[in-house]
Amino acid sequence: MVEIGADGRTWLLSGPTSSYGLRLGDEDELLHLHWGPRIALPDTEALAAGPGPEYWAFEATLDGHEEYPVEGGPRFVRPALSVRTPERRGTEWRFEGYETAGGETEGGETAEGEAAEGAGGDELRLRFSDSGLGITLHYRMRAGTDVIERWVTLANEGPALEVLRADSATWTLPQRDGWRLSQLHGRWAAESRLVRSGLTYGEKIIGSRRGHTGHQHLPWVALDADGTATEELGEVYGCALAWSGTWRIAVAQLPDARVQITGGAGYDDSGLLRLQPGETFVTPVFAGLWSDGGFGGASRAWHAYQRAYVIPDAEQDRPVLYNSWEATEFDISEEQQRALARRAAEAGVELFVVDDGWFGARTSDRAGLGDWTVNRDRFPGGLKPLGDHVHGLGMQFGIWVEPEMVNPDSELYRAHPDWVQFQPGRKRTELRNQLVLNLAREDVQEYLWEQLDALLSSAPIDYVKWDFNRAFTDAGWPGEGYPQRLWVDHVHALYKLLDRLRAAHPGVAFESCSGGGGRIDLGIMARTDQVWTSDNTDPLDRLAIQHGFSQVHPARAMAAWVTDSPNAQLNGRVSSLRFRFVSAMAGVLGVGGDLTRWTEEELAEARTWVELYKEIRPVVQGGELHRLRAPEGGLSAVQYVRDGEVVVLAWLQAQHYGEPSLPVRLRGLDPSASYECLETGEVHRGAVLLHHGLRTGLRGDFDAAVIRLRRM
Ligand code: GLA
Repeated sequence: MVEIGADGRTWLLSGPTSSYGLRLGDEDELLHLHWGPRIALPDTEALAAGPGPEYWAFEATLDGHEEYPVEGGPRFVRPALSVRTPERRGTEWRFEGYETAGGETEGGETAEGEAAEGAGGDELRLRFSDSGLGITLHYRMRAGTDVIERWVTLANEGPALEVLRADSATWTLPQRDGWRLSQLHGRWAAESRLVRSGLTYGEKIIGSRRGHTGHQHLPWVALDADGTATEELGEVYGCALAWSGTWRIAVAQLPDARVQITGGAGYDDSGLLRLQPGETFVTPVFAGLWSDGGFGGASRAWHAYQRAYVIPDAEQDRPVLYNSWEATEFDISEEQQRALARRAAEAGVELFVVDDGWFGARTSDRAGLGDWTVNRDRFPGGLKPLGDHVHGLGMQFGIWVEPEMVNPDSELYRAHPDWVQFQPGRKRTELRNQLVLNLAREDVQEYLWEQLDALLSSAPIDYVKWDFNRAFTDAGWPGEGYPQRLWVDHVHALYKLLDRLRAAHPGVAFESCSGGGGRIDLGIMARTDQVWTSDNTDPLDRLAIQHGFSQVHPARAMAAWVTDSPNAQLNGRVSSLRFRFVSAMAGVLGVGGDLTRWTEEELAEARTWVELYKEIRPVVQGGELHRLRAPEGGLSAVQYVRDGEVVVLAWLQAQHYGEPSLPVRLRGLDPSASYECLETGEVHRGAVLLHHGLRTGLRGDFDAAVIRLRRM
């Protein structure tokens, strides 16, 4: 809902529990008034009338108060917008008018375009201009959520200009003591690890200069003040960026105890793109959320938002998949895949995915990327016979691709050495023996569309694991006047290709993978059905990775496989099948071990776990998540609740001194209701489960349990 003050210069957006207020000042400066608990329009007007910032000659009155600080004039905070022409640098804008999705207008315009799309919630658009450059700030609060989506449209009707930086938004947090930052950091095989630390004065920058979202940081931050927020209580602000390329989020602790969070595409301020007369650039969405439900409440709000508005077909549960990568790596054949498929079907798997190695001359990572035709030595009849076999076993059929890349040893590269990103006369850096295609080129886009469209039409393919296995290093584009734009255009081309493939093959689901979790963000998640969380499938490490992932993204998108013990890929750790399954059941369950080497007993046990997962799946994938105990200590647990159905997953790494593990206190239950445990038949009172907890009975090392409760 958007409310507008009587003079048409104050706006208030409100969701179920929160509000966001802003005001246009006398000099057309756009001032931030409020982001926090729900307030009324008169409250906003009182804030607007209140004493303004008090500063003296060495401070800028506007700093820390502006919605979207542009470069230029009396401002010393980080500019969200920085543009230049041969004559000038910076922006001095005039207010032009506003529109809302509901149709209230000013300046003779009607609500249309983006605003009409905003029918699922209310959108406010504020239009400014400077010397022919139109700058529109968009605010959209999606119906039923407290998530505000912000983005900016730049429409150039003036002379050509260079956009050095165009962030999607600057978020302003109120004056509080002791702001604390939560972030998700990592590297390959160690993504999404949660850390919290106190902010100090100055800026904290996270981002990626790699061309993809990166394993190093998820584009998300959360802030709480005075260290007061806990898992279930307290105010939490969060921001997440919907962009799958290079990006930056800057968190600035200002001298007056405010915080500003500025984020958008690109890492540096050295040039994002050039806007010719008549050209438009739309920034990605930088979404923000205020919650007073603690970190857990904030996560649940993010999850609900993504299930409702980001993830395609989120109401459909994802199937249990099998993926052959860890079992076979590059050494694959049709016969062997058929054998694995039969074992997978026996275990109850619903989707069988052939990973790398089925195409071109791809018998190792040294050749074949770029040639998306079936390797006939390995699959003499193409993929169709295997696909039919898999369907005949009652499973869906999936394949792996890595379309944005090429091995120099490939037909594609031999034919088009200029289709990669490169700088003339410089080294072409190979990582994992591969180069990055220049997806900003239309001929490259068209080639990939034709190859992938033909591939999806050639065999009964239901699922595509879309990988991206190296960062940009030599992002040049010889012959292009402004090669810098390659960074942004690559992402737009990727999105366009995915959108086009999804439209042409509506039954096909997509997984975003980038050497594990190197491309996880709201942008890619709007076009893929699930993400590969990490190449680390060690069930213990995964608990921490999943704990971090769940801070912002829902279990419905989080793929997790049960692999072999000892863990072959990473660390040789030995763990029980039980522990491995319960760890992977916290997300979209998959199996990735060498099933031809599993004993009949292991296979039978696997089948039982898969059956149990199918029962709890609607609650895990569609329910509300409560993190009961973080995976730092010996015992950790999560709980999912949906319509009176409760699932608790608990893990014990190691028991010490024979101490029985502590009961876990459940959340989100009705204290006056009773709950029946489906495992034991015992009846528990809600109030008791909430306050005194539930005994898990876990003991020894690497023990785990699934406990189902049903409201009576
Ligand atoms: C990446 C993925 C793996 C696997 C390999 C195949 O590393 O993360 O799951 O698909 O590529 O080369």
